[in-house]
Amino acid sequence: MSVTYDEKKQVFKLDTKNSSYAFHITPDNRILHLYYGGKIPETDITHMLRIPNDEPFIPSDHDAMGPLSYDCAPIEFPTSGVADFREPCFQLMDKNGMSACECVYTGKYEIINGKPRLEGLPATYSNDGDAQTLELYCTDPANGMEIVLQYGVFEYCDVITRSVRVKNGGKDNIQLRRLLSCCVELDRMDYDMITLYGTWARERHVQRFPLRFGKQSVDSNRGSTSHAHNNFIAICDHTATEDFGEAYGFALCYSGSFLAMAEVSQYEKTRVLMGINPYDFAWELQPGESFQAPEVIFTYSGTGIGQMSRNLHDVMRNNLIRGKWKNIRRPILINNWEATYFDFDSDKLIEIAKEAKKAGIEMLVMDDGWFGHRNDDKSSLGDWFVNENKLKGGLKKLVDEVNKIGLKFGIWLEPEMISPDSELYKQHPDWCLHIPGRHRTLVRSQLVLDFSRKDVRDYIYGRIKEILSSANIEYVKWDMNRQLSEVGNEILPPKRQREIWHRYVLGVYEMQERLITDFPDLLLENCAGGGSRFDAGMLYYSPQIWTSDDTDAIERLKIQHGTSLCYPCSCFGSHVSASPNHCVGRITPFETRGHVALPGTFGYELDVTKLSDEDKQAIKGQIAEFDKYNPLVRNGDYYRIGDPFANDRYDAWEFVAKDKSEALLEYVQVLKEPSVFLHRVRLKGLEKGSYYRCEQTGRVYSAEVLMSSGFDIPSLWGDFRSYIAYFVKV
Ligand code: GLA
Repeated sequence: MSVTYDEKKQVFKLDTKNSSYAFHITPDNRILHLYYGGKIPETDITHMLRIPNDEPFIPSDHDAMGPLSYDCAPIEFPTSGVADFREPCFQLMDKNGMSACECVYTGKYEIINGKPRLEGLPATYSNDGDAQTLELYCTDPANGMEIVLQYGVFEYCDVITRSVRVKNGGKDNIQLRRLLSCCVELDRMDYDMITLYGTWARERHVQRFPLRFGKQSVDSNRGSTSHAHNNFIAICDHTATEDFGEAYGFALCYSGSFLAMAEVSQYEKTRVLMGINPYDFAWELQPGESFQAPEVIFTYSGTGIGQMSRNLHDVMRNNLIRGKWKNIRRPILINNWEATYFDFDSDKLIEIAKEAKKAGIEMLVMDDGWFGHRNDDKSSLGDWFVNENKLKGGLKKLVDEVNKIGLKFGIWLEPEMISPDSELYKQHPDWCLHIPGRHRTLVRSQLVLDFSRKDVRDYIYGRIKEILSSANIEYVKWDMNRQLSEVGNEILPPKRQREIWHRYVLGVYEMQERLITDFPDLLLENCAGGGSRFDAGMLYYSPQIWTSDDTDAIERLKIQHGTSLCYPCSCFGSHVSASPNHCVGRITPFETRGHVALPGTFGYELDVTKLSDEDKQAIKGQIAEFDKYNPLVRNGDYYRIGDPFANDRYDAWEFVAKDKSEALLEYVQVLKEPSVFLHRVRLKGLEKGSYYRCEQTGRVYSAEVLMSSGFDIPSLWGDFRSYIAYFVKV
């Protein structure tokens, strides 16, 4: 059993293979956190509670177990206005305008084998009993709020999930002012915090800093996850490395505005909080109505940051990503965006398709610009009707021709948007998010459709369904190229206006659920101005996400390194693109571009008709490499070896099969140095006592030699060169 309850000690304990998480119910039914860290055997652990009593100026109450200072107690689900002055998870406004609330255990709990769905939201799920769920029923006796703390336990990969559902069990309306999904109390403050920050074309770079007293947070108030900050954070020992030390990783399974915070209190304890951003959030609950908060997926590793990532990768690959494409080889696609931008027609696409077919590519994806009168990014979003000046004879004719050439066909859509220069906007100027009487701010000449409205969603979904049913379209790239502003509409009453942020996200989820239900064979790739919505929420709907519009192999080292802290490489949309690169003008070898795209979904984003014969030939070799290594990428364990943030000389990473039978080492020489020895790289994760043959050198090495001394990367001439080495256990 992963979940146990020691009735005598009043301790709930969640155990995974290598970690334990425990909390205590006090005699007054308060829920106090006891422990989260490496696995412990016993449940008799209430002595772990260390709460200073009767400290001057610290509010203290007398609980049945003695004085209880709320402001320094490790409160499992902290609430607002009741003498815990740290950041709370829960705040409401009752009919009297009071915002205080409490969370008191009712004595009822449920342990469920498996994992119930979270209504309307993405969340991890159980396969064949690999998860258990604990639901703890709580209440606020003063207003009748029912609060269910939800815990999921994935024992096999050391992952725990948390969420909360609240229900207005009282007689009057209540307004939720904040409902964060999870609070984890850690008993120390000597940690570092790691976050993934960035901007367009430079997403998910890594920053790491020591925690200090007070609040440190990252967030989005943009309505989507954002380029600026990802909704993942890690808390680790100051001394933690990839392979040593304690590390906790937290990922929010949500795609809207979020808050991720670590607060260090005056008593040197750390409170980690995560959930929907309380900024500009409110939600009206009538008697009997419920609200489900999104899930936080978190893990503990006692053996470094690398294992933290591998735990998250496992749970996302096995228990979050769904559908037919969950774990099968994806077709190798060519996308025409960087090849043509808006300047294409069916003849050009056919030309690309023919040449792509010769090179062994398997799918053509037609990107932005095929609909309305869209010849640049200034018009036509919302007018999802084929531009027959470009696609002569219509979409079906093009798709049929592409299929006849022997390629599958995929299409780009940006369903959440509307251009003021569109027929749809002429007919429905009120369908975008807007505040009556206020200027509508444009980003990329577009506004955001109000996906909180069912009529708007139904119309757009109708168009999508018709397009996808009109031809043999096997892939959709669902793009979202701006963030939300002037969030309002003329539909909801004033007291419900602040709900639109979250209703919008629920609307997006509903649309994508409809899409993958109606078209179960469809391969869906999410995208948002590159990687602005790269989050666990999106992975529930699409098994892959476009990582960044920056396709430069060297820029991608940092982007993919940062992204891999939380997300499995096999879901990184990554393509070989033209050189000089369109984002940075860097010239890199074709081979290196292939090797950097190899750990992701793999594909091409260039005009194959303009490639040299040599590069066209190279595509065949790259596809063969992809075929050979993709099962290892999809199923193996990922090890970061180099750190592109720490040096500009090299990066390296490795995939090792779960059964340790094979390993792939990838190496990129960033800047060549003169007068240095061969670079010796130490492998990780091999089976000690075993021997491995390296395909490239033909030599057999012991795992110990490869891991303790290392493998010599041959001398590579020039900058931006790459090398791979494949090892098979003998
Ligand atoms: C975004 C995407 C790109 C491309 C363009 C089209 O920037 O990230 O890949 O689809 O939109 O406008």
